[in-house]
Amino acid sequence: MIAIVLCFRQCTGVTQISECSREQLVDTNQLSLNIQSILPQLKSLQNNQEIRIKSLQKSYREHEQIVIEQMRQMINSMLGKSEKEHEQEELSLKIHLVVADFEKSALKEITNEVTFVKDSIARSITKCTRLQNDLSQLHDSIQKIGDNKELCFIACMKCEQKLQQALTDLGKAGNVFTVKGKSAHTVKISNDSHLCTITACCALQDGRVLVLDESNKKVKLVDQQYQVVSQCDVTAYPLDMCLTTSNEVAVAVDNIIDTHEIQFIEVNQHQLQTGRKLQFQHKCICVAHNQGDLFICSYTALYKYSLGGKLVSRLFVDPSGCAVSPIGDKLYIVDHFKHKLLTLASDGTVLATLTDPGLRGPSCVHVTPAGQVLVCGHKSRTIVQVDSKNSRKLITLATAMDDVWNPFSVCYSSTSSSFIVGQWRNNTILVIKVE
Ligand SMILES: *[C@@H]1O[C@H](CO)[C@@H](O)[C@H](O)[C@H]1NC(C)=O
Ligand SMILES: *[C@@H]1O[C@H](CO)[C@@H](O)[C@H](O)[C@H]1NC(C)=O
Repeated sequence: MIAIVLCFRQCTGVTQISECSREQLVDTNQLSLNIQSILPQLKSLQNNQEIRIKSLQKSYREHEQIVIEQMRQMINSMLGKSEKEHEQEELSLKIHLVVADFEKSALKEITNEVTFVKDSIARSITKCTRLQNDLSQLHDSIQKIGDNKELCFIACMKCEQKLQQALTDLGKAGNVFTVKGKSAHTVKISNDSHLCTITACCALQDGRVLVLDESNKKVKLVDQQYQVVSQCDVTAYPLDMCLTTSNEVAVAVDNIIDTHEIQFIEVNQHQLQTGRKLQFQHKCICVAHNQGDLFICSYTALYKYSLGGKLVSRLFVDPSGCAVSPIGDKLYIVDHFKHKLLTLASDGTVLATLTDPGLRGPSCVHVTPAGQVLVCGHKSRTIVQVDSKNSRKLITLATAMDDVWNPFSVCYSSTSSSFIVGQWRNNTILVIKVE
């Protein structure tokens, strides 16, 4: 950022730090202003996360009560039926089964998910608190260092790093990608009967990728060499997917008639395993997750649910795809038919709207862990990166010239520094390396 760049620009030809004047070396005033503006933002991020943990615990306790009440009623109804002595043994076996079932039930799965989400929020609170302390201390020491240029330079350098980290944590890094290369990989397997249509993809931390093959009604696991290594079938068309923990995804499965579900799938060492399922009255065409909140879109609304499936709120929009910013303060929604990208505050207020000739028929929006926003234009055959705040187009990352013929979905893998483009009826995914 500014200060360090300033030093090297102003001190061209100077090899020793001591040859620079303090003013040339670092713009301490600017640095101090930057710190003063970022500290309250970090504080509010921390407060936000503390509120999230509380609301997560509350919704979990409500869910737990419902499940326990259901079990109590079931046991009561069994007790009511038993009158004779010899039925007692059978009854005790039945109750044993109910309890065993309960232990394996969705409650346990949810408990694991909630623990995971809670731990990850707690970790980011710790990180955020530490960052605030470090920045305050560095701020103080820069003021006190006085004329010792070497020390001042080192302190400012550290400060720049911390500021950059803070911007990343706040989802404001604004890094623009540069494309480095591309490759195409087939995801068709021997028993697929249709051309694969990849409606969504998700990158795992170890570099593997999950893809949804809508035409063949499958979820496929792709390894680091982009070979399909495992698959599992779903009951209707898999339309969208998001990560809920580091090794679990929620898949929107719908047939537009009578199946409207969110199917949870876990990625084990080498296999995919279907888990619990949530069923809805409305269609489930896209899904996004952020710290225990599950966002599900029908064609006419965006619903916010808890992980247990309890409705929290509803917004009337026309979504074709949705995504949430890393800290949950912004929702991104694409409208395929009106060719636009909406940026909403978490209460639904429209913050920005993007329409651009280079982005027609958007089918998917994806947010990277650092908060960068990628949109897939199906009709314009483009992948564009959009500014996360004002929804301005930053750069067109790939076009039909790069074999993006029928793009339908996009996701970013930090592990392989590349984004993966899923295509419509093409059998291949494109992997575009970026920096
Ligand atoms: C299709 O092939 C995969 C392995 O490539 C296998 O796991 C799956 O059971 C097969 N499905 C059917 C319906 O044969
Ligand atoms: C997939 O798209 C590529 C161009 O990106 C094209 O060369 C190839 O023929 C297409 N495959 C199918 C099966 O349509």
